[in-house]
Amino acid sequence: MELARAQQERWQRAYEQNPGLNGTDPSAAARWTVRLFGAAGIDDVLELGAGQGRDALYLARQGFSVHATDFSEAALSRLRLAAQRDGLDDRVTAALHDVRDPLPPADSTVGAVYANVVLNMAFSRAELRSLVTEIRRVLRPGGLFVYTVWSTDDSRYGNCSEIGDGLYANDGFACRFFDLDLVTDLADRWELGGADLYTEDDRVLWRVTQAKPAPAS
Ligand SMILES: C[S@@+](CC[C@H](N)C(=O)[O-])C[C@H]1O[C@@H](n2cnc3c(N)ncnc32)[C@H](O)[C@@H]1O
Repeated sequence: MELARAQQERWQRAYEQNPGLNGTDPSAAARWTVRLFGAAGIDDVLELGAGQGRDALYLARQGFSVHATDFSEAALSRLRLAAQRDGLDDRVTAALHDVRDPLPPADSTVGAVYANVVLNMAFSRAELRSLVTEIRRVLRPGGLFVYTVWSTDDSRYGNCSEIGDGLYANDGFACRFFDLDLVTDLADRWELGGADLYTEDDRVLWRVTQAKPAPAS
């Protein structure tokens, strides 16, 4: 609990001090994801850990309806202001939410869930498992979950100090590096569509796509 609170304060401070944190250009993952979601006929997206909204706003500009969540109110207020400024507030909503808590949507009501560089934050493996279970609960059958996380192939892996439970400290932020075993573990009871390594801003990441299985007919 202490780590969780400290992380929330760290992120809040980071966003208050740096209005440009993460930039405004969409991530590589968001550009890739709009094509996937578009081809799958998805029109609504729940984004977790959306930060100041570079990807939420991009998804909205591409025609998706986006509900963006984060546990930093500083980030979300900038996201809301940018949505209003860009005339996207009919397609983007934003709400404060800690992903350790149950997800607000009812069962099987969401078309897709998207989380860019969020699951590799300060979560225990048990918290990660319960988060993916929650995501599966809210998705409609056949719904898609796309996430990206730092990989153990990243050069920082092993170069920052370990703080226990497989977590590392990086400038006051706690983080985890994912190997294929963890990716596969989190895809248990899902259809794993793909797990691909890619590079962005000198980081090596996994991009993972998994689908909630449709019930057997
Ligand atoms: C590396 S940033 C990525 C932000 C955004 N997805 C992007 O790509 O610009 C990680 C984000 O996760 C959020 N976050 C970390 N832990 C969280 C938690 N427990 N619940 C909700 N959001 C969390 C942080 O506030 C931050 O906005």
